[in-house]
Amino acid sequence: MLTLRRKGTFDQYTDSAVLHTRLHPESLGPVTAEEARLLEKLDLSRLPRHIAVIMDGNGRWAQKRHLPRIAGHSAGTQSARTTIETCARLHIEALTLYAFSVENWRRPKTEIEFLMQLLREYIRKEMPLLQRNNIRMRFLGRTEELPDAVRRDTREATEALAKNTGMVLSIALNYGGRSEIVDAMNAILDARLAQAQANGHNRQPHQPITEEDLARHLYTADLPDPDLLIRTSGEMRVSNFLLWQIAYAEIFVTDTLWPDFNRARLLEALVDFQKRERRYGAISPPARIAR
Ligand code: FPP
Repeated sequence: MLTLRRKGTFDQYTDSAVLHTRLHPESLGPVTAEEARLLEKLDLSRLPRHIAVIMDGNGRWAQKRHLPRIAGHSAGTQSARTTIETCARLHIEALTLYAFSVENWRRPKTEIEFLMQLLREYIRKEMPLLQRNNIRMRFLGRTEELPDAVRRDTREATEALAKNTGMVLSIALNYGGRSEIVDAMNAILDARLAQAQANGHNRQPHQPITEEDLARHLYTADLPDPDLLIRTSGEMRVSNFLLWQIAYAEIFVTDTLWPDFNRARLLEALVDFQKRERRYGAISPPARIAR
C-alpha cells in the first residue's frame, strides 16, 4: 500500500507489482510499479494548472493492426477516459482535448460521421465518470456549424455538469486556432459597435485592441493558458491548436500513439514538465545574480 502525500512522497508498506495510492481524499486507485515510480518523482504542489492535448495517431495505431482507421478512434476513447480521470484526481484545473479540427472536414464522410457518432456515445457513456469526478464540461470551436444532434448532446452535457466545481474539461470540436482569433476579433468589433449605437453613434470610435481585450473574447476566456501541451505520435507541429494560448506552454511530444497513451505516459509528461525551467522571456535567477 502506498500513501501519496501532497508533496509527492510515499509511505511504502508493500512492494507488490500493483500498488495503491491515496491522494487525499480521492484515490488514483491501483497503480502499477512503473506508475508508482513516476508518482514518486512528481511534486504534486507544482502540477500544471491547464493541460492541453493533441490526441494524434489513432489512424496509425489501427493501420499497424490491419484494422480500419475508425478502430483507432474507438480505441482512443479509453486513453481519453484515463487522461480525464487522472487529471481530475490530480486536481488539474483545466484539461483541453483536441477532438475535431476545422480542417478535419476534409476527411472521408464516413470517418467524419463515425467521429461525430463516437463523440455523442462517449458523452453519454462517460457522464457518470464526469459527475463522479466533479468535472465541468465545455466545447470549444465553431460549434454552431456542427450537426444538430451533436449540438444538442453537447449543450445537454454542458448543462448537466454545470453545477460541478472541479476540473474544466474542454473538448475542442470544429476548432481552429486561427478561426478562434478571427472570431474573437469580430466579437470585439460587434461589442464596440453595439456600445457605440447604444450611445447614439453609427460608427465605433477608433480604439486600439489590446492583448487583454483579445484574450477576454477567446473561447477559453476564463481559463488559465495551458502550461503544458502534450502531442502524441511524434509529430512536431501545433496543428492550429490554441495558437494564442500556448505562447508560453511547455511542449511535450511523445512517439506513443494516442490509443497507447496510458496513465504512465501521462505521468511521464508531468515529470518531464517539472524538469523544465519556465522563464517567460526573462533570464534564470542564477544568471541574473552573476551579472
Ligand atoms: C487523431 O488521430 C485523432 C483525432 C482525429 C481525434 C479524435 C480522437 C478520439 C476519437 C479519441 C477520443 C476522444 C474523445 C474526446 C471522444 P488521426 O486519425 O489523425 O491519426 P493518424 O495521424 O495516425 O492518421
